[in-house]
Amino acid sequence: MARRSLLVGFGSFLPDRVVTNDELAARLETSDEWIKTRTGISRRHIAGPDDTAASMGAKAASRALEYAGLAATDIDAVIVGTSTPDQAFPATAVRIQAELGMTQGFGFDIAAACSGFIFALSTADSFIRSGLARNVLVIGSEVYSRIVDWSDRGTCVLFGDGAGAVVLSGTDQAGEAGILSTHLHSDGTAGDLLYVDGAVGRPEMSGHLKMNGRDVFRHAVAKLSSSVDEALEAEGLSYSDVSWLVPHQANIRIIEGVGKKLGLPPEQVVVTVDRHANTSAASIPLALDEAVRDGRIKKGDLVLMEALGGGLTWGSALARM
Ligand code: COA
Repeated sequence: MARRSLLVGFGSFLPDRVVTNDELAARLETSDEWIKTRTGISRRHIAGPDDTAASMGAKAASRALEYAGLAATDIDAVIVGTSTPDQAFPATAVRIQAELGMTQGFGFDIAAACSGFIFALSTADSFIRSGLARNVLVIGSEVYSRIVDWSDRGTCVLFGDGAGAVVLSGTDQAGEAGILSTHLHSDGTAGDLLYVDGAVGRPEMSGHLKMNGRDVFRHAVAKLSSSVDEALEAEGLSYSDVSWLVPHQANIRIIEGVGKKLGLPPEQVVVTVDRHANTSAASIPLALDEAVRDGRIKKGDLVLMEALGGGLTWGSALARM
C-alpha cells in the first residue's frame, strides 16, 4: 500500500482582543450592517503587542502536538504558510522550531497568501509520500492587522489575526484515510488584484494590503468552483461523497456559493468567518480545529478544503479523516 499522510493533530490560537464591527464603525465610515451583509463578518481577533506569526504559530502547534500525542522531538519538518512573518529571516517556521525546543528536522515558510495552508499541506504531504519526513507540523499564522491600512474601510474590515496547525503523520497502513490529493495553482498576471504594496526589499512602498474586491470576488467564485471539481474528479468522487467543506474564510457569500455548487446543506460547511474574519493562511486550520474538537468532523468523514488568495494563488485538498 502506498504511503499516505494522516491528519492526526489539530490546534489553534486566537489573540485575546476582539474587535466588533461597531467598534470599527466608531472610527471609520462603515456600519455593522454593511459589513455583515457584504461579508458575513461580525467580529475579529486582533493581535496584542506580543502576538506575532511565530508566537501564535508556536501556540497553535503545541496544541496540535498535544492532540496528536506527539512530542516536538517526533517532528521532522515544520512548514508555515504566512504573509506576515516576524522577520525576513529566520523563517517563522524556524523560530517556531526553536520555541518548541526542536533542534532536529527542518523548517521553512511558504508565501502563498490566503492559499498558504493548502500550499503548505500539499508540500508536507509530498515530503511524507516521498519518505523525506514522517511527522510534519503544518501551520498557518497571520497578523494582517499589521499590513492592512486602518483608514481604508474597503479592506481593513475584512481581516483578523490568528493561527492554526495540523500534524500530518505518514503511514503505510492508512486504509481509506489520509490526504487523498492536493491541487495547486497560481497566476501572476492577476497579481495586481490583491497584493501588499512593498516589503523589506522595497522599503519606499507603503507596505499596505491593496485589493480590487469585486474582481477578486469574481475570480474566487470561478476558480474555487473549478478547484473543487478538480479535486473530486481526480479521486473519482462526486459532490454527494463530501461530508464537510472546510473553505478558506474570506466572505460568507463566496463560501455559500461553493457550498451550493456542491449541493451541501449549510450544516455541512464549516464557517468561522463570522467570528474570525479573514485570517488568511490561518483560516482553514482554525476552522478544522474547531470542527474536529466540537465533534462535527469525525473519523471516516471526507473533508474538502479550498482557498484562493493574492497571487493569485488557489487550490484544494481532499482528505479522509
Ligand atoms: N463600509 C461601508 N461602505 C463601504 C465599505 C465599508 N467597509 N467598503 C466599501 N464600501 C463602499 C464602497 O466605497 C462603494 O461605495 P460607492 O458605490 O459609493 O463607490 C460601495 O461600498 C460598494 O463597494 P464595492 O467594493 O463594490 O462592494 P462589494 O459589494 O464588491 O463588496 C467586498 C466589497 C470587499 C466585501 C467584496 O468585493 C468582496 O468580498 N470581495 C472579495 C474580497 C476577498 O474575499 N478578498 C480576500 C480574498 S483571500
